[in-house]
Amino acid sequence: MSNEKVALITGITGQDGSYLTELLLEKGYTVNGIVRRTSNLLRSRIEHLRRDPKIYDKTLFLHYGDLSDTTTLRRIFREAQPRELYHLAGQSHVGLSFEIPESTCDEAGMATLRLLEIVRDQGQPVRFYHASTSEIFGSVVESPQTEGTPMRPTSPYGCAKAFATQLCRVYRQSYGLFVCNGILYNHESPRRGENFVTRKIARAAARISRGLDSELVLGNLDSKRDWGRAQDYVQAMWLMLQHDQPDDYVVATGDTHSVREFVEAAFAVVDLPWEKYVKRDAAFDRPMELTRLVGCADKIRKTLKWKPSGTFQDLVREMVEAELETLKN
Ligand code: NAP
Ligand code: GDD
Repeated sequence: MSNEKVALITGITGQDGSYLTELLLEKGYTVNGIVRRTSNLLRSRIEHLRRDPKIYDKTLFLHYGDLSDTTTLRRIFREAQPRELYHLAGQSHVGLSFEIPESTCDEAGMATLRLLEIVRDQGQPVRFYHASTSEIFGSVVESPQTEGTPMRPTSPYGCAKAFATQLCRVYRQSYGLFVCNGILYNHESPRRGENFVTRKIARAAARISRGLDSELVLGNLDSKRDWGRAQDYVQAMWLMLQHDQPDDYVVATGDTHSVREFVEAAFAVVDLPWEKYVKRDAAFDRPMELTRLVGCADKIRKTLKWKPSGTFQDLVREMVEAELETLKN
């Protein structure tokens, strides 16, 4: 291939896939994305790109596929000839992974193995980004966590991601593949799925302020997460694949806040007393809960010069204001 800037993204319709696509297109890449057949053709997060005649089928190509369908994945590789693979796809909800453990583990775990094997067979080198997660640390033995912190996952999702993370290391060491694990902490945006806590809170605060809803029902308000901006985190993914050596990197802000603090900040944006509207329901609790996650991103800051932008308050405001904007339409 003459054009080395050819990327393939699994999970292109997700939060991260959509921001990464925009970033790569801006950088002059040809982007190939794998999409699933669904009963509704609208893929809301990338619809603006699909409708752009200067982009769609010019520099952005969508291929039907599924993580369980190896023959199709191989065919997509043959057609697209990617030089960079960003493997982001899979069921990504930790709580739901207790309800649908088998498919979650197949997508988060075994699919990574399938893709590593396909990459190993390619005639040309392909740089591989694996979407690992802070969930691999589970019941943590130290805080903040680094690339060297032991993996002690506490959910089916976390176990599958730990399996895939270690497998990526094995393929890097055994076959010399250029494989990077991005160990990403929670990252949010107005494009976050509606059943993740930050989007759920932002949406409810906006709707309650407009009289469209009357309450917000949540699970554990005390858990703490290291929340960053998705737009910054896809930049980190790209930087990892541009470095001269493949490696693993923690991507985090180093700052941690409770779900309660997120609620307080979101309701402050719409100037409402949150205690009046927020109810607790144990139905949203998980069989095992990670009470506090916080990452140390020193390695990626020093090696790749990455840093997060904005504050926690900025993130909350951006998400609530985006919801208010949606309600105007
Ligand atoms: P997301 O919004 O839930 O997107 C998941 C993507 O995977 C969607 O495009 C989805 O397609 C696709 N997908 C799911 N199952 C598939 C299958 N069987 N075959 C093909 N595609 C499939 O997730 P995200 O927040 O963008 O996260 C991206 C990745 O990073 C995930 O692997 C997640 O586990 C990991 N991660 C996320 C975070 C975070 O805070 N966001 C932190 C650490 C790691 P549909 O649109 O068709 O459903
Ligand atoms: N989803 C959800 N819904 N979570 C709630 C709720 C609720 O109603 N109430 C409280 N929580 C708590 C959860 O128990 C958890 O402690 C915290 O809010 C964050 O939950 P999520 O937003 O669902 O994110 P997560 O931390 O479990 O997982 C996300 O981040 C991981 C990285 O640390 C996902 O994006 C994973 O894919 C990612 O790997």
